[in-house]
Amino acid sequence: MKKGKKLYEGKAKIIYTTNDKNLVIQYFKDDATAFNNQKKSTIEGKGVLNNRISEHILSNLSQIGIKNHLLKRLNMREQVIKLVEIIPIEFIVRNVATGSITKRLGIEDGTVLKEPLIEYCLKSDKLGDPLIAEEHILAFDWATKKEIEKVKKMILRINDFMIGMFRGVGIKLIDFKLEFGRLKVNGKEEVILADEISPDTCRLWDSITDKKLDKDRFRKNLGDLIPAYTEVAKRLGILHEQSNVSAVNVTKLSSVKRKRK
Ligand code: TMP
Ligand code: ASP
Repeated sequence: MKKGKKLYEGKAKIIYTTNDKNLVIQYFKDDATAFNNQKKSTIEGKGVLNNRISEHILSNLSQIGIKNHLLKRLNMREQVIKLVEIIPIEFIVRNVATGSITKRLGIEDGTVLKEPLIEYCLKSDKLGDPLIAEEHILAFDWATKKEIEKVKKMILRINDFMIGMFRGVGIKLIDFKLEFGRLKVNGKEEVILADEISPDTCRLWDSITDKKLDKDRFRKNLGDLIPAYTEVAKRLGILHEQSNVSAVNVTKLSSVKRKRK
């Protein structure tokens, strides 16, 4: 597979073309942003960990029948994915109230929701990803009723699976963000899971201590983001228990791999 030109650069990833028009390469950067790009930093090794964690989750989801864009991981920072037309909506799933919903609606932080709550945000950096209703999605043709129904069903299965997967390793899945894309298969349009699922896009709390093991460590200046993401990877069995992955080690691993190419 030949890597071509840059097709798109987002805040945490870059998409490159390949010699196959249906496939692209997704590159995980070390850049971290929050509050719609107002807070920015580079955290050495973050991209490597997100690449591995997202690969793990998406390949497990595909084993339970959730179609997604991942074909295979190429190296420490890159994956081959199917090129899809991204639906311009961020689908937020909440099991426990924290973050923006607590401020927006005055809900007490940590309130366990009696059912998963799905929220929709318009994917627009310019507008700060505003919260929208399903009616807006239909009114402005961002997705069809059929697509939304399909996505909602997928979301609830993904949530159930991920709650169980994380619970099994002593982590509470508080909330997360998903993106979906359209793909033409045999002339028929399908909606599949896209983007990434990682500690950048989920809130993950230790089951016993409630310690934050996700991007809130960056958002709230808690520090130790790499040790937290490494802990998630270790518990999921992606990294060996004894390997002490510091930012430096992750960078070393990634440069060794790069040299081998
Ligand atoms: P929020 O509480 O800030 O609305 O975030 C809800 C969840 O969505 C949380 O797990 C973080 C994730 N998220 C993203 O992945 N990208 C974003 O741009 C935002 C705002 C949230
Ligand atoms: N990724 C978003 C941004 O940069 C927000 C977030 O994850 O908190 O601004």
